[in-house]
Amino acid sequence: MKLASTLQDVPETMLWTLHNRAVEAMRPDGIIQDPTCVEIYRSISYDYERHFGKAEPSHAIRSLQFDRAIRQFLRRHPEGTIVNLGEGLETQRFRFHGDRARWLTVDLPEAIEIRERFIEPDQRHLHCPVSALDRKWFDWVPRDRAVFISAQGLFMYFEEREVRQLVRDLFDTFAEGVLMFDSIPRWLSRRTLSTQGWKKTPHYRTPRMPWGLNRNEIGPTLSQWSDKITRIEEATYAEFPRGLVRWLFPLFLALPVLGNYAPTNNIVYFEGGGL
Ligand SMILES: C[S@@+](CC[C@H](N)C(=O)[O-])C[C@H]1O[C@@H](n2cnc3c(N)ncnc32)[C@H](O)[C@@H]1O
Repeated sequence: MKLASTLQDVPETMLWTLHNRAVEAMRPDGIIQDPTCVEIYRSISYDYERHFGKAEPSHAIRSLQFDRAIRQFLRRHPEGTIVNLGEGLETQRFRFHGDRARWLTVDLPEAIEIRERFIEPDQRHLHCPVSALDRKWFDWVPRDRAVFISAQGLFMYFEEREVRQLVRDLFDTFAEGVLMFDSIPRWLSRRTLSTQGWKKTPHYRTPRMPWGLNRNEIGPTLSQWSDKITRIEEATYAEFPRGLVRWLFPLFLALPVLGNYAPTNNIVYFEGGGL
């Protein structure tokens, strides 16, 4: 029997990313292979297309970018910890095989409740049902190992002051690690805050996304927030697998000023915390 979704507001957006990833994974030429994602997608009774429109590959690209950065991290820190803030129904850990890492999912209680209908936690894969803004989850992370903190599709839903304080607290608390998050440009954030909001389709308005920064502002802003940062890298969406966007998006990214108005993924290396 299919499960009906009771999710609303930001937790409901986990079905948007699930939709885009699963439809990509179902294609014979799909860029992502993820049978668990497809199984979950098919088990939820929800009119994905009516809400979010026709699926497109951006979230599969994003997940692959995060997978790559985590693989790189695990090569250096095979026993490190991966913290997934706002993980929703992301099935990332099933795309890894034979790793020895500890994985921690941090999401709101109603989101964890849905996740656990499909994905059981175990000794190495833990679920922490609290807000990412609640520092209680810090205690679930071993302090003697490096940590990779991932926030896919999360920080834009927070206020800037919340992101700033969280980032500072992370870098002050953990001695060594990586924070990876995606960001949206200011124009898109503003659109979600307008009276109309961002109506993705006639049947779905996205939640507010108060935190937006243009691509060229990420490095300077984060460096101002913390002196624990050793390096910042970018992993763009320039990997659309097909269609006109495959050619147009890399061109757009390369444009001197306009390229700053694209969403992107940021990989921030830090060292020196450990309060
Ligand atoms: C756009 S979805 C992204 C889900 C997943 N990361 C992915 O890429 O498929 C946003 C997620 O953030 C979670 N979320 C919203 N507010 C949160 C908070 N304060 N703390 C932790 N997670 C939160 C939602 O429940 C949801 O799972």
